[in-house]
Amino acid sequence: FKVNWDVSSAEKAGYEHFMIKEIFEEPKVIKDTINPRIKDGKISLDSINLTSEDLEKIEKIYIVACGTAYHAGVAGKYLIEKLARIPVEVDVASEFRYRDPIISDKNLVIIISQSGETLDTLFALREAKKKGARVLSIVNVVGSSIARESNDVLYTWAGPEIAVASTKAYNTQLSALYLIALDFAMKKGRIDEEFYKRIIEELRNIPKAIESILENKEIIQKFASEHYNAKSIFFIGRGFDYALSMEGSLKLKEISYIHSEAYAGGELKHGTIALIEEGTLVICPMTQDDLMEKMISNIREVKARGATVLAIAKESNKQAEKAADVVFTIPDVDSLVAPIVAVTPLQLFAYYMAVQKGCDVDKPRNLAKSVTVE
Ligand code: AGP
Repeated sequence: FKVNWDVSSAEKAGYEHFMIKEIFEEPKVIKDTINPRIKDGKISLDSINLTSEDLEKIEKIYIVACGTAYHAGVAGKYLIEKLARIPVEVDVASEFRYRDPIISDKNLVIIISQSGETLDTLFALREAKKKGARVLSIVNVVGSSIARESNDVLYTWAGPEIAVASTKAYNTQLSALYLIALDFAMKKGRIDEEFYKRIIEELRNIPKAIESILENKEIIQKFASEHYNAKSIFFIGRGFDYALSMEGSLKLKEISYIHSEAYAGGELKHGTIALIEEGTLVICPMTQDDLMEKMISNIREVKARGATVLAIAKESNKQAEKAADVVFTIPDVDSLVAPIVAVTPLQLFAYYMAVQKGCDVDKPRNLAKSVTVE
């Protein structure tokens, strides 16, 4: 069976657009995706039949997806390598499929797709299976093609996502990746009980953290009202924040039609900084404590060349306030889980920029919700 939500009857429930409604659903759908998988304080991914023995045979994991789902995969790579110490390679599906990837039954391929119908991603799944890999999918539509053709499925319970620009689905894809990374790390004995329980508690607190961000949405709305005429916007970050920068940049481009680029902070000096001039807008997600000094120096570098900087930083980060022009603060969550929280201000930024420009936020030009063509 296929669950095809009747989009025509979908309700905005008083919100101006589906996109902002779906951003406001994030606390609930993250809870719906995480909590049922935590039983007696332990992660239980009952829909995944991957035993510790199966895991021992996995020499390398591939994460394959498109667009926003790919950006979740980039964060997933950092996460799984950091916690489970299994090598991870991330690929966009349209590249993976045609580069004759070197995969076998010693590989696990994690497919991420909100719709479960993206043709590039479905073909990549088939390529992986043809070469003997085991396929685990993170999908939001029950019974979708990708779900049906996978060996294992970990569903995100984000509910119908109507806006073309994916928001709540991304947060739940990240949530699913945290569950997988922690589960694998425990199975491989890479983390101890104390760390495991602490991070599970951090995950449980994320909905509350996002609620407090949503309460302060006017700060983002005001910043957008002052900058929606920007011609080109840079997102720079390091580590998890680099993955976030990619997602923030895509969100902005696809609904406000403003050109934007995401850059690894350390890469600026290798070329891009030549583009920074008086008035250039730079957005810096900077949630990683261990990379803070580096990000502060990146901010100083771009400000010295005239940039205006909006930083996304934890409340306790006083350095960010001294360095950036405007700081949007997120609650003091552990840096490890910050990506699920810090992406929401970036989604809100893209949303308010598009609204200020009078764009068709839910149905941006030239785009479809599910890309079922190659
Ligand atoms: C995201 O905002 C875009 N609409 C698009 O990049 C999307 O993420 C991509 O097409 C993948 O879709 P899927 O998750 O349904 O496979």
